[in-house]
Amino acid sequence: MDEWNLQVQIKIARDRKGLGNFAGELAATHLRELLKNQDRVRMVVATGSSQFEVLDRLTRAEGLDWSRIDGFHLDEYIGLDRNHPASFCGYLAARFVSLVPLGSFLFLDGSSDSRKVVDAASAAWSNAPIDLALIGIGENGHLAFNDPPADFETTDIYHIVSLDEACRQQQVGEGWFPNLSDCPAQAISMTIHGILQSRKIICSVPDERKAAAVASSIQGPITPSMPASILQQHGNTTLVLDDSSASKLSQSTLSLCEQV
Ligand code: GLP
Repeated sequence: MDEWNLQVQIKIARDRKGLGNFAGELAATHLRELLKNQDRVRMVVATGSSQFEVLDRLTRAEGLDWSRIDGFHLDEYIGLDRNHPASFCGYLAARFVSLVPLGSFLFLDGSSDSRKVVDAASAAWSNAPIDLALIGIGENGHLAFNDPPADFETTDIYHIVSLDEACRQQQVGEGWFPNLSDCPAQAISMTIHGILQSRKIICSVPDERKAAAVASSIQGPITPSMPASILQQHGNTTLVLDDSSASKLSQSTLSLCEQV
């Protein structure tokens, strides 16, 4: 465990506002550095409530030449129109793409032919390395929409997945859908392999309801039944927590974390 914790940096903010400020500024600083040495920078953007404050901070960051940054969409429900309040296309348009003058952004359109969307996004992703991924961890430990048991074997980049009940219940609990039956049962998601190829990962995880998944992911075995545990294998991940989501970490893990 100590060996893993030395590899992955864990930062703990007091609350989700502090978490968002820290993670957003960390992303901005990283992007500025990359832009000094690269013509173009490619980043993946997650959605969900965990990214609200992160994207708010990042989109207000100064000194970023967004025209040289190309964005990729992490995951999207199948069969949801972008005007639906839970659409991640709508979320990303409102909270990111309309706020900064990106070079490009590749949306996953959940309302068109999913197979074609997967193929086109995978081809675009494969053109060059991904420099930065902003991700979260679900209540069930999922990364993107890779619910447990997650596919750790595929080397595809995007795939079509079924959503488990815990995942769909989380979306209802957060108010994105009125009932479980309204939440789609399938999604397009970047694969675990695709996520792990990102040179840098900033994983933002606020809230008490994520505390058990956080503790298992970083203190437990690497297993498809806890998808986020695979982050233990990524050499350049910063996990940003708040006091609530860090509340189930052991004292020995906490001693290796930095308060921010
Ligand atoms: C959500 C989204 C992902 C996000 C992950 C965690 O359901 N599909 O884009 O990275 O699952 O989100 P949250 O932190 O809001 O639970």
